[in-house]
Amino acid sequence: MLEVSNIETGYGDVQVLYGVSLSVKPGEVLCLLGRNGAGKTTLLKSIMGLLPLKSGSISFNGKALHTEPAHLIAKHGIAYVPQGRRLFSELTVAQNIEIGLMVQGRGHQTRERVLELFPRLRERMKQRAETLSGGEQQMLAMARALSTEPRVLLLDEPTEGLQPSMVALIDEVTLKMKNEGVAIVLVEHQLDTVLTIADRVAFIENGRNPETVTTSDLALTPNKVMQYLGVS
Ligand SMILES: Nc1ncnc2c1ncn2[C@@H]1O[C@H](COP(=O)(O)OP(=O)(O)OP(=O)(O)O)[C@@H](O)[C@H]1O
Ligand SMILES: [Mg+2]
Repeated sequence: MLEVSNIETGYGDVQVLYGVSLSVKPGEVLCLLGRNGAGKTTLLKSIMGLLPLKSGSISFNGKALHTEPAHLIAKHGIAYVPQGRRLFSELTVAQNIEIGLMVQGRGHQTRERVLELFPRLRERMKQRAETLSGGEQQMLAMARALSTEPRVLLLDEPTEGLQPSMVALIDEVTLKMKNEGVAIVLVEHQLDTVLTIADRVAFIENGRNPETVTTSDLALTPNKVMQYLGVS
């Protein structure tokens, strides 16, 4: 289980998170909802060790993560698909996947599995990442993360700006990972996606500790979503 306990962090003197806690179990999808600037990306970056904590702790299966250097977090089985994809743009599809495989020393079998999830990437292995379409780039970002065979997957707006068929594919792969027992934290604005794949929803507001509700409760209280997001 991934556990974030009462973390405070920010950028320099600017504090962004004020005592945020959450937990995610294997096979569970926790969806983070909140307005622009609420601190969702900052929370994921903190889990990945990309920002030092001012206080609080983060652990995975009882082992502290926040005391580890950033480059070792992935070795604990945590994978991150950053907002805006952050691929190695001048490298090919194959090379981007290779980098993912190397993190945990995965090989041919893992590569095959990942390419089965995203057959379009197989046809473009020699193409440079920067020349892929937006949807293909998102597939590659997911593929690279899944090449580590993670036990925790952090997805920051993976369907942002994608057309419906691409959204459906990303959602389908996310659900597959959930069903294989991966613990998932998903930042997502599309309500239908949230209602389809999330088990619980955490509403983060101004970096304050999020209120968490089950998705079935959320479906019964749609004005909650209005209240937090200003959308229906
Ligand atoms: N590198 C940085 N330096 C300084 N401030 C930052 C930095 N990155 C983010 N912030 C600030 O931290 C706050 C939270 O940003 P964050 O990216 O976590 O929000 P978010 O919830 O992911 O928003 P969005 O929905 O727009 O992606 C914002 O006020 C933002 O301006
Ligand atoms: Mg963000």
